[in-house]
Amino acid sequence: MPARLLIEGGVPLKGEVAASAAKNAALPALAAALLTPEPVTLTNVPDLGDIRTMLRLLQTLGAGVTRRGREATVTVDQVASDRAPYELVSTMRASVLVLGPLVARHGSARVALPGGCAIGVRPIDQHLKGLAALGAEIAIENGYVVARARRLVGAHIVTDLVTVTGTENLMMAAALAEGTTVIENAACEPEVGDLGALLTAMGARLHGVGTARIEIEGVRALHGAVHRIVPDRIEAGTLLVAGAITCGDVRVTDMVPAHVAAVLTKLAECGVEIEVGPSWVRARAGDRPRPADIVTSPFPGFPTDMQAQLMTLLGLADGQSKLTETIFENRYMHVAELARMGARISTEGPVAIVRGVTAYQGAPVMASDLRASAALVLAGVAGRGRTEVSRIYHLDRGYERLEDKLGALGARIERSP
Ligand code: EPZ
Repeated sequence: MPARLLIEGGVPLKGEVAASAAKNAALPALAAALLTPEPVTLTNVPDLGDIRTMLRLLQTLGAGVTRRGREATVTVDQVASDRAPYELVSTMRASVLVLGPLVARHGSARVALPGGCAIGVRPIDQHLKGLAALGAEIAIENGYVVARARRLVGAHIVTDLVTVTGTENLMMAAALAEGTTVIENAACEPEVGDLGALLTAMGARLHGVGTARIEIEGVRALHGAVHRIVPDRIEAGTLLVAGAITCGDVRVTDMVPAHVAAVLTKLAECGVEIEVGPSWVRARAGDRPRPADIVTSPFPGFPTDMQAQLMTLLGLADGQSKLTETIFENRYMHVAELARMGARISTEGPVAIVRGVTAYQGAPVMASDLRASAALVLAGVAGRGRTEVSRIYHLDRGYERLEDKLGALGARIERSP
């Protein structure tokens, strides 16, 4: 029987817990090691399923990997293969992040097309359009993107929509291109900013990272670097909601409060008392949450990766809330499972109407994707009675032993063997 999380709900969570480093910053940072023959060391790599997949992928491309505790050093003194196999890419879409660095450094890449996932179709057309603008020849052969270029050449790229990994892929590609590249409508997520910091430490010339217009002066070669990854704002947000949904008092440390400003605003609207320090946030809730309306959007807007967690909180609100998911077309898979716990939520396309109930009842539920699984755990710690969350391999992709962190705050939660 695959592992499950067993939760006895109803305990107000209290205490302090530290955020881990961000999965969505660690993944592009690891891929960036492909850009140089010198060692790239990340000092605080989280122990996650997706990180292990990325390290395995890099090794198939020729990387040497050494790990010491949380430190990981990746050295690609030579690209041994330009092929990112379907077996790996199909388990983790972020594998597409090797495409830009491989073409830029090695002149060719064969990366399996990621295909869709539980939350949406998720095409990579903007990645390919940008690489073509930089002079790469792009073809789709037998389910693989084949990209070739003797040397990429700087270009003016305007993406049709804001794409996080698309921006990251093009930043890495342009770093070694001949001449200057401008990316307009670029993503401004903190993870993009963190990649910019690493690339700069590797000798790249970037301007405007963190804004919608990024300018990159290509250089001939990049060197190694040592980098500390930015804290995980989504994990931090999830832990704050855990405090709020159990009417508890939780302080999350080792985080960047500005990275969760939109989430804190919504929590305050729900009546959660929020206190902010230089690198911590405290959430206290004594009462039933108030309803609130949420529209997801690219940073600095409300993150889609926190939609399921806030929906779960609003499911207990004293009134009706409206959520609009604008980023992914199929990101309400958790609704049916929350309904098994007594939630009253209806959806129509991108809109969900949440009519709050006074309590969730414990029940066996099934995770469908990473953030949906976090939402089910939150419903479980808030609920009355016992909840069993299955398919938690989804959770382990992006949360570092969440049960240990919640347990440290007083939750009655354990992983079945
Ligand atoms: C990143 O995915 C994150 N993943 C996602 O986190 C996050 O939900 C998402 O950004 C949005 O914030 C990583 O960083 C590894 P997008 P990404 O390209 O880059 C469409 C999690 O839970 N699009 O910004 O794949 C796309 O379909 C994960 O940790 C195109 O149409 O997302 C989506 O509707 C889930 N063509 C929208 O744009 C493209 O070429 C935004 O996607 C690219 C994207």
